[in-house]
Amino acid sequence: MAFGKQDLQPLASAPVGAQPPQHVAVIMDGNGRWAAARGLPRVAGHRAGTQAVRRTIEAAIEAGVGWLTLYAFSSENWRRPAEEVMELTGLLRHFIRQELAELSREGVRVRVLGDRARFEPDTRAELDRAERTTLGNTRLNLNIALSYGARDEIAAAARAAAQAALDGTLDPAALTVERFERFLSTAGMPDPDLMIRTSGEHRLSNFLLWQSAYAELIFLDVLWPDFGPAEFNGALVEFARRERRFGARPA
Ligand code: IPE
Ligand code: IPE
Ligand code: MG
Repeated sequence: MAFGKQDLQPLASAPVGAQPPQHVAVIMDGNGRWAAARGLPRVAGHRAGTQAVRRTIEAAIEAGVGWLTLYAFSSENWRRPAEEVMELTGLLRHFIRQELAELSREGVRVRVLGDRARFEPDTRAELDRAERTTLGNTRLNLNIALSYGARDEIAAAARAAAQAALDGTLDPAALTVERFERFLSTAGMPDPDLMIRTSGEHRLSNFLLWQSAYAELIFLDVLWPDFGPAEFNGALVEFARRERRFGARPA
């Protein structure tokens, strides 16, 4: 079901009394359309999108959400024109350089999910630095999914498990769901309980397919550069209204 902006109660701050989701995942979509609507080049949308990232991190901290995973670049986004890919990676480097000190001060721990080997060495170095610098922080765990694809992630986990079996360190009969999850890039992290996608598209686009088995999905019409605390907190209110069953009998 789609939830337009109008369906969500915009709030200046997090809902009072409600248990916030432990882990929120966001598919940040609609930068190109935001720019096109203003007659601007797509890169202007991506630039405006980085401001929305800033606002979202702040809203997550305010709301007491412990984990935030942002889908910034998919394994399929490499199919975009080289110029746009360059602009996106340039913005990413710029964002980290600009924001890292502040993120660290705010107690944010940064982790990167995805195949960072596909990025240029200087971008990889920035990503490594962000992870290293924020290693000891515990207030908000921020995962940035970059060159990330869930199918790649699951295939890599299957390869690692097969190798462990060949090496004699894993008995295939003992490969349970829990054991398999230790091979995923999200090993040790809670599953997202809330997944938000902006821009009116109703699909997951290869994002956290394994981890989102029981995530509550919220699709918003708002374009990513227009996303802010009101939309984030509105999604938390909607989440609080949902009855989660995990396959069990309704209460
Ligand atoms: C999201 O905005 C950013 C990335 C996927 C990198 P898009 O660039 O997909 O914007 P639309 O969907 O074309 O509007
Ligand atoms: C999904 O958006 C990926 C990110 C937001 C980073 P896309 O714009 O790439 O997804 P599709 O192509 O519309 O499915
Ligand atoms: Mg898109």
